[in-house]
Amino acid sequence: METIYDILKAEHKQVSDLIQQALRDGSKETFFIIKAKTDPHLAGEEKLLYSLLEQKEDLRELVSHAYEEHNEIKSISFELESLDAGSSNWTSKIKELDESVSHHVEEEENKVFPAARKTLSEDKAQQIAQQYLDFSKSFQQQHPMP
Ligand SMILES: [Fe+2]
Ligand SMILES: [Fe+2]
Repeated sequence: METIYDILKAEHKQVSDLIQQALRDGSKETFFIIKAKTDPHLAGEEKLLYSLLEQKEDLRELVSHAYEEHNEIKSISFELESLDAGSSNWTSKIKELDESVSHHVEEEENKVFPAARKTLSEDKAQQIAQQYLDFSKSFQQQHPMP
């Protein structure tokens, strides 16, 4: 059975491929596809994974740093929403998003997930996977793409 880590890692790969595509095609449509993947991903991680991990005293700092990185990604994404794809700072903002996401994905996969694996049972990680899929589905229904 799939664990939450399998699902999140697969989404990390999808998002980084999409960001590379956005760097090539410079289109706002591609950005909105990235946003539609990223928004429920960040919200789902916070609601279903980070919330459990931060209950452990020794993981609190790691999780709080991960929240900060989420906020950085959200703020870059928010700025991109109001920029024209043809504007002069569009490409540099997409590059900022690329760097911010790449850095966060690396920290998550190399620090947060290994720490979570030590804390949560395999059963729990499978259970969170199911909750995450349900959450992501209803999030997307409530936030349709423009
Ligand atoms: Fe993630
Ligand atoms: Fe994350």
